[in-house]
Amino acid sequence: MNKMENNAETPELLPHCLAHGIPYWSRVSPRTIASPIDRLPYLAGLIEHLAPIDRTLRVLEIGSYAGASAVVMGKALQKHHDGKARLYCVDPWFHPPYASCDFNSERLFRHNIAASGVDDLVVSIKGFSRDILPLLKPESFDLAYVDGDHSRHGAALDIRACMELLRDGGYLCGDDLELQHEEFNGLEVPENGSVAVINGTACHPGVTLAVRDVFGRRISAVDGFWAQRKTDGWQDVKFTRPNPDWITPLFSMQHESTARLLLRRIQKEQWTNVVLYGAGKHTQTLLPWLLKSAFLSVNICGIVDDAKTQGALCGIPLVSRDILSEKNIDAIIISSDAHENVLAEKAASWGGGIPVCRIYKP
Ligand SMILES: C[S@@+](CC[C@H](N)C(=O)[O-])C[C@H]1O[C@@H](n2cnc3c(N)ncnc32)[C@H](O)[C@@H]1O
Repeated sequence: MNKMENNAETPELLPHCLAHGIPYWSRVSPRTIASPIDRLPYLAGLIEHLAPIDRTLRVLEIGSYAGASAVVMGKALQKHHDGKARLYCVDPWFHPPYASCDFNSERLFRHNIAASGVDDLVVSIKGFSRDILPLLKPESFDLAYVDGDHSRHGAALDIRACMELLRDGGYLCGDDLELQHEEFNGLEVPENGSVAVINGTACHPGVTLAVRDVFGRRISAVDGFWAQRKTDGWQDVKFTRPNPDWITPLFSMQHESTARLLLRRIQKEQWTNVVLYGAGKHTQTLLPWLLKSAFLSVNICGIVDDAKTQGALCGIPLVSRDILSEKNIDAIIISSDAHENVLAEKAASWGGGIPVCRIYKP
């Protein structure tokens, strides 16, 4: 029997979130749902800088995908400018339906915006930035976030257009500036928007080149998030320490659902002893929700990770794969969204025929 035939999936998460008005942020084929979410609080931080402005704020986003950055900005705007803010989201949303259902990124964007309660201030504009931005009023925006086309040409075009659209004092910012130009050390890099690993860092060379083309210098950036302020030319920005409260509540509803659906699946299969595979951020986030469940009738015997075999997460020990021969393990649960496919294949090869349970459908 093909080992992968042993794979058990809990593909109900997306339909469950759609049916119950819960925002969905997990893996959707063929890509993950947002920029690394740790960066998003910096975006909320910039909006907080605009809090003293006593008039309707206008914010522009280029590249919204499923809405994670838009929701974080929307929440920050509601806190400081409730009823007096508009967030314009420009995206062609050309992504095809996901493998698991007929939802596409545009419908998921609308779902997430509504389910997160920010639909009152979001204005979605379907189209490519090159067609839409020329229609917008110059010097009318307070903040512009650039996260659309990541090619050198496309990103530079968007940055330049946003410079014209911002008022004096406004913030221009964007995602994916993991490296600055001088850090390429003269290496030839792709300009087409693809991700590359340069000197060990995964980065978006197109964005780095575009920033260099436009500003001609190193600019203020932190964890890949970059920003400049329009005041007497373009000035660097001091970032405030990111406040995780901007993202934790937004994602917790889904984590609770993920944990519930996974437990339901475990009970249905009558698995008693399981191990989690993967000790990364996904497990750190999900585990408290799994353990919180009062009716937890499963033993999470350990966490297997390719890089670590010592320590513990929420009291569950990190263990080696030897646990499979030492204990009667009923299933290996893949605890990762971004790397679910890879880990599932690996687990099928070392799991000795024990069922491999995926949480998300690839
Ligand atoms: C990295 S995703 C955006 C992620 C989103 N900002 C977040 O953090 O949740 C990039 C998005 O840019 C959109 N995009 C690509 N080229 C574009 C263009 N020329 N104009 C507007 N949007 C574009 C894509 O459709 C995709 O949805």
